[in-house]
Amino acid sequence: MESELQKKIKDYWDQQAVLNREKTDSLKVIDWESDYFIDSKGQGGTLKDSNLRELEIQNVVREIRKGEYVLDIGCGNGYSTLEYAKRLKDVRLLGIDFSKEMIKNAISLMHDDYPQLVSRVRFECHDILELSALYEEEFDVVCSTRVVINLPSWQLQQQALDEIRKVLKRGGRLILLEGSVDAVERLNAVRAKLKMKMDRAGNWHNVFLRDEDLKNYIRGKYKLIKEIYHASTYMLITRVLYHKVILGKFIKQFTYDEEIFDAASKLPNFGEYGYHKIFVLQKI
Ligand SMILES: C[S@@+](CC[C@H](N)C(=O)[O-])C[C@H]1O[C@@H](n2cnc3c(N)ncnc32)[C@H](O)[C@@H]1O
Repeated sequence: MESELQKKIKDYWDQQAVLNREKTDSLKVIDWESDYFIDSKGQGGTLKDSNLRELEIQNVVREIRKGEYVLDIGCGNGYSTLEYAKRLKDVRLLGIDFSKEMIKNAISLMHDDYPQLVSRVRFECHDILELSALYEEEFDVVCSTRVVINLPSWQLQQQALDEIRKVLKRGGRLILLEGSVDAVERLNAVRAKLKMKMDRAGNWHNVFLRDEDLKNYIRGKYKLIKEIYHASTYMLITRVLYHKVILGKFIKQFTYDEEIFDAASKLPNFGEYGYHKIFVLQKI
């Protein structure tokens, strides 16, 4: 049964989706309290930081093979789902989200901007916790981008991972791009050296994952293929260096459009500091 907190989280995402239909470009302004932004191009419900989002998409796309059937859970407004479809020509995708308002946005985004993808992409409204009632060992790949962290306890998160396993084919892969408490702690240790305020692990509606919990959970269920810290250099530069040296020192409001964000996203990647990380897991 859905708890009060789960209902509140669902309402929050419905509201974000409705706001997303309005023009609110000012929300591109950097606000460390909220990583999500909304704009007139229909990119709300996803990351405010478009360079970070691009790094995510590039890394997810690298893990998907020609001809695969992909389930994108918690697809939000479908921005990333449609990007996967654009970049992976022979792949079919199903995007699901429990917010019907998000799904409405995803469907309009596809029909308005990418009508050529309609034959390969579908969007449906479902809860991750009810996946196995709908599908059975159907997908080659499941992608989860900052979705499981919206379930308010590790117990529910494990339930979601069990549901995902049931809908994956044997040998199918889960690309789990979620918030990592361990990575936040590493980034905070660097911030502490520079006497900066600690970063929180997500927003009020997020519970970030612990690497050790996840590694214990997957035993006998999934094989760990790889861990990817896709935005490690990027986070050190934008969330530490830039934040320390530039941000807040001028009256001007800074946005994620500043050149440094684009430049940082093009540097070689090193370290384990990105607070969103990717686990690629294979169903046993
Ligand atoms: C942070 S957004 C990420 C959206 C998209 N994956 C992206 O990367 O742009 C999280 C999304 O997960 C959805 N979500 C949260 N809990 C869910 C659940 N239990 N079942 C399905 N979708 C869920 C929310 O409605 C929201 O659209």
